[in-house]
Amino acid sequence: MNKKGNPLQLMLIALTVMLSMALSASAQLVNGQLWPDTDGHHINAHGGCVIKHGDTWYWYGEQRPERGFTMDAGISVYSSADLRVWKNEGVALSVSPEPGSDIERGCIMERPKVLWNKRTQRFVMLFHLELKGRGYEAARVAFAESESPTGPFRFVRSQRLHAGQWPFDMSEQDIAAAKQTQPEAWKEWWTPEWRREVEKGMYLWRDLSTGQMSRDMTVFVDDDGRAYHITSSQENLTLLVSELSDDYLSLTAKYNMVAPGGQNEAPCLLKHDGTYWLICSGCTGWAPNEARMFRAKSIWGPWQQLPSPFTGTATGYRNMPADKTFGAQGTFIFNDGQRLLFMADVWNPRHLSQSLHFWLPIAFSPDGTPVIGWADTPWQ
Ligand code: GAL
Repeated sequence: MNKKGNPLQLMLIALTVMLSMALSASAQLVNGQLWPDTDGHHINAHGGCVIKHGDTWYWYGEQRPERGFTMDAGISVYSSADLRVWKNEGVALSVSPEPGSDIERGCIMERPKVLWNKRTQRFVMLFHLELKGRGYEAARVAFAESESPTGPFRFVRSQRLHAGQWPFDMSEQDIAAAKQTQPEAWKEWWTPEWRREVEKGMYLWRDLSTGQMSRDMTVFVDDDGRAYHITSSQENLTLLVSELSDDYLSLTAKYNMVAPGGQNEAPCLLKHDGTYWLICSGCTGWAPNEARMFRAKSIWGPWQQLPSPFTGTATGYRNMPADKTFGAQGTFIFNDGQRLLFMADVWNPRHLSQSLHFWLPIAFSPDGTPVIGWADTPWQ
């Protein structure tokens, strides 16, 4: 036999090498580059979350169109055995073709988060919903459920929050003060007087009868299985933390406000050594801004604000600075079994489907404060 091998053998060897190089390149998941799925397409799951069920990881996110901002398809789901190689499992929750449906094609679905409910043995999805043709004014949370992690999820309901309910930690006196605010009277925002009124609950009062607004959101499951919904409310000025019912399919009446008037979006929550840490973005639409961090001993606060956990520059990604969150906006924090990873989107508003993904490992300083530096790969 020819020592050099015949041309067919050589071609096969070359092909195998090329294929394994391509696979290992995709298995690298380099922060700041496109992340191909097993079909070679950039992973179209934005504003999403990753959960583990059995031995499999599932990544849910907004399936964004190539152009425009509204939904053609719905919420996508990908699966992986190792968090590196992702298979597109299709659409987990589809938009509806039915005119007038809350999730009619052309609506906006954002920031989907999926929870496994042990009690009901179901997957529950919560997401931010905007109704078709109404921009961002509906400001609702929506619920969907499924027996299978890859769906199809059934749409359950969309709603505003806590109509007729005051936060559980507001005293009679606080409520009386909120009721004296005059939301319509403030033509000029951002004055010290206006801010004081917001802190008293002016927008809570404005929306009390119709229910509170809910836009950017996340969910968090505590060690005891109790789950919480954390959302940007009151014209994106104030965060609300709400307890979820046992089946995760509704909110209980228990909720409170975090950082009234602080304009926090993209909330992500982690718990480390008994302390809760909330990492948010500011409110500049698709443009990156400096992250904010809050710390509390209880999910119900009081929350203390600290500087952004981001540090250094993204040397692998256009030298984006920490005070711009390396060009990204957070979406979720999950534990990969060894470390906590901060998931973020680098939005590309001209082609939202092409928005990049960053996953950065979270380190902790000796006093337990989260620190997030740049890493070329999530596992660096
Ligand atoms: C961002 C928000 C995104 C999306 C976008 C629309 O602030 O975090 O989820 O809603 O605004 O402009």
